[in-house]
Amino acid sequence: MLDACRGPMMRLAVIGLGLIGGSVLLTARARRCDNDKTRQPAFSSIIGIDLNPATRKAAAKHCDAVYSSLAEVPSQQLPDMLVIATPVQQFIPIASQCRRLLDDGVTITDVGSSKMCLFNAFATAGAPPPGLIGSHPIVGSEQSGFAVAEAGLFSDKLVVIVPGEYSQSEHLARVRTFWHAFGARLVELDPELHDRLLAFTSHLPHLLSYALVHYLGQRRDNDDMFRFAAGGFRDFTRIAASDPTMWRDVTMSNSGPIVEALEGMIGELQGLKKIIQQQDAAAVYDLFSRARAVRDYFSRSNQSTRPYGAPVNLVSHPSRALAGVINIPGDKSISHRAVMLGALAQGTSHINNLLQGEDNLATVQAFRDMGVAIEGPQEGQLHVEGVGLHGLKEPVHPLYMGNSGTAMRLICGLLAGQKFSSRLTGDASLSTRPMQRIIDPLRQMGALIQAEEGSQAPLRIDPAQGLHGIDYTLPVASAQVKSCVLLAGLYAQGTTRVQEPVATRDHTERMLATVGVDLHRQGSTISLKPPAKLEPGNWTVPGDISSAAFFLVAGSIIPDSDILLPRIGINPTRAGVLDILKRMGADITLLRHDVVGQEPVADLRVRTAQLQGVRIGATAIALAIDEFPILCIAAACASGETLVSGAEELRVKESDRIAAMAEGLTTLGVQAQALPDGISITGGPLNGGVVDSHTDHRIAMAFLVAGSVANSPVRVQRCANIATSFPSFVDSAKALGMCIDR
Ligand code: S3P
Repeated sequence: MLDACRGPMMRLAVIGLGLIGGSVLLTARARRCDNDKTRQPAFSSIIGIDLNPATRKAAAKHCDAVYSSLAEVPSQQLPDMLVIATPVQQFIPIASQCRRLLDDGVTITDVGSSKMCLFNAFATAGAPPPGLIGSHPIVGSEQSGFAVAEAGLFSDKLVVIVPGEYSQSEHLARVRTFWHAFGARLVELDPELHDRLLAFTSHLPHLLSYALVHYLGQRRDNDDMFRFAAGGFRDFTRIAASDPTMWRDVTMSNSGPIVEALEGMIGELQGLKKIIQQQDAAAVYDLFSRARAVRDYFSRSNQSTRPYGAPVNLVSHPSRALAGVINIPGDKSISHRAVMLGALAQGTSHINNLLQGEDNLATVQAFRDMGVAIEGPQEGQLHVEGVGLHGLKEPVHPLYMGNSGTAMRLICGLLAGQKFSSRLTGDASLSTRPMQRIIDPLRQMGALIQAEEGSQAPLRIDPAQGLHGIDYTLPVASAQVKSCVLLAGLYAQGTTRVQEPVATRDHTERMLATVGVDLHRQGSTISLKPPAKLEPGNWTVPGDISSAAFFLVAGSIIPDSDILLPRIGINPTRAGVLDILKRMGADITLLRHDVVGQEPVADLRVRTAQLQGVRIGATAIALAIDEFPILCIAAACASGETLVSGAEELRVKESDRIAAMAEGLTTLGVQAQALPDGISITGGPLNGGVVDSHTDHRIAMAFLVAGSVANSPVRVQRCANIATSFPSFVDSAKALGMCIDR
C-alpha cells in the first residue's frame, strides 16, 4: 500500500482497472505524489475497484486500497470522485451500487465510448444524479488490461466531456479540472451527439475491421490468403484485436446510431461494387480521390491542435537586424477566387503558388465536397477539374469555411444560383461575423438564403426560382460583398451592377475578365452579364502583400535591417500599405516590376528608416484594410501621433481589431486610444508583456513583430490561427533574424 502523500484534496475511486481505468489510477497517483503545489488537484486517497483478483493484486501497490465492488468500500473511504471505467454494459449494476453515494455530492464520471447508456443506466437505478458527467478520453488502443496501463496516458489527448440534462455546473467544473490536471485537452458534447458522432468515426471502423477479419477467417482458402496479407491488412485490422467484451458492450449500447452508420456503409459498398462492375474508371477515381482528400483534411486537422487544442502561445524576443530574401506565400484573396472560378470553369484550371493556409484548404475541401476533382496542392500547385457553372453536386455535409469571411461570403454568391440546398458553417470567430451584408443583396436578386441564428453563420441556402440582376450600391466598403454579388450575377438573368462608393480590391473583377466574363467598369460601377460558361484559368498567384506587410514593417523598425521580398502583388486597389508606409517615411523600393496573369507584381526591398506618424482616412484604409494591425505597430514605433479614421469595418474582422490593437499596445506601454471608427497612437518605446491575439492571425503576427523591438519579450497568446493565412510566418521571421519561440 502507498504511504500517504501530501496535498489532500479529493478522494478518488476508480471502478474497472483495465487500460483506461488503470491509467487513471496511475496518473492520479503520479499527480498526488507530485510536490508541485501549484498544480491541482492532488488526491487524499485513491482506491481501485475491480472484479478480477489478479488485477486487484497488481493495482494494490499503486493505491491505498482495492475492493472487488463499490458495495464493499467502507463508508469512511467513500470517494468524492468516482471514475467508472468498466465495459458499458456494467453501468446498470454499478448505477444501483452508486445509490449509496448520491447524497454526498459525489462527482461521478466514466470513460466509456457511448454515453446515452450511462445516463440511462442511472435513470433506471433512480434519477440521474447532479454529479453525473460523462467523459470519453480518446486514447484508442487495441491493448487492454492493467498491465498496459500507464501514468501520463491522457497527456495532450482529447477528452470529450458529456454533461447530461441534470448535471450541475460545479460537478462539471470538477470533471474538467480533473482531466486538465492529467494534461488532457477538452471538448464538450451533448450525449446524443456524442454517440452519433462516435458511431460513425469509432464504432463503425471497429465493426468493419472485425467483420473483415471474420469474413476472411470463414473462407476456406484463408491459409493461403493470409500468407499474402501485408501492411494494408495489418493496418486495417489492427483494431480487430480490441477487447471483444468491451466492443460487444459498446455495440449493444449504441445500437441505434451504429445501425444507421452500417446502413450508410452498406449503401456505400454497394455503390462501389456497381461502379466497379460497370468498369467506370472515372467514377472509381473520383470516389478514391474524394476519399483521399477527406483523409488528408482529417490528418491535417487532427495533427493541428486547432479545433479543441491547447492555445499556441508564442514569445517574441528583441531581435537583431533582419537580413536576407524571404519568399512570401501566395495571396489569400486570389487563392480563394482561383479555386472557386476553376471549379466552375469548363475544363482544367492550373494554379501556381496557391496559398496553403488552412482557410484556402477549407475552400478546396468545400469544392471537393461538391464533387469537383482537385489534384494537389503540391508545392503550391493545384489542378482543378472544373465542372462548369451548373455541374456542382449537392454536398452531403455542411460546407466548413474555417476562419474565412471571404470564403463564406463569396461562396454564398455561387451557391445562391445552384439547384441544391447547402449549409455553411465556420469556426467560432466566423460564426460571429455579420452576414446580413450579403443576405440583403442576394435576397434582392431572388436568392433563398437565411442565417440560422440572427444574421450570422451557420447559413442556409435553398434553390431559388431563378436569380435576376440588380443595381446594388455597396453600403459598406467591402470587396467581399462586391464579389459575392458579382458571383451571384454569373447565375442571374440580366445585368448585375455593383457601385462601390469607396474602391476596394478588384481581384474578382480581374479574374472574371480572364475567364471570359463580359464585365465592365465605368467609374465606380461594375457591370456583369451572365456568361454561358467560364474558360479555365492558368493562374500564378502573387506573393500576398498582406503577409509581406509584417516584414515591411519589421524591416523598417528593426535597426540596420535590409530585406528583399520577391514577387509580391502590388495591385493598386490592394497595396495601400505601401503608400501609407512611404508616407510614414519607410524606405521601400519596388524592383523588377512585372505582371503575372492579371496582377502586377514587384520585388520589395525594405531598409530600416525612422518613421513618423500620419493620418489615415477611409479611402486609404479600404486599400490597406488587412494591414491595420501591423500599421498600428509601425505607428507605435513612429515619432508623433498616427490617427486612423473611417475604419469602423475593422471592428468586424476576425476580431474587433481596433479594440484588440488598442488593448495590446496599451499593455506594452504605448499611448493608444480606440475610437469608434479608428485609433489614435502616439509612438514611444515598447515594453514587453503578455498580449492576447483574440485568436486573430493578423493581431498575433503584428504583436510578434512588436516583440522584436520591445525592450523585453512579448508573449502573444492564442496564435494558432496564424496558420489560416501565413503558416510559414514563424519560420520566415526566424530565417530573417527575428527570435520567436514558444
Ligand atoms: C477580402 C476582402 C476584405 C479583407 C479580407 C479579404 C477579399 O474584406 O479584409 O481579408 O478577399 O475580398 P472586406 O471586403 O469585408 O473588407
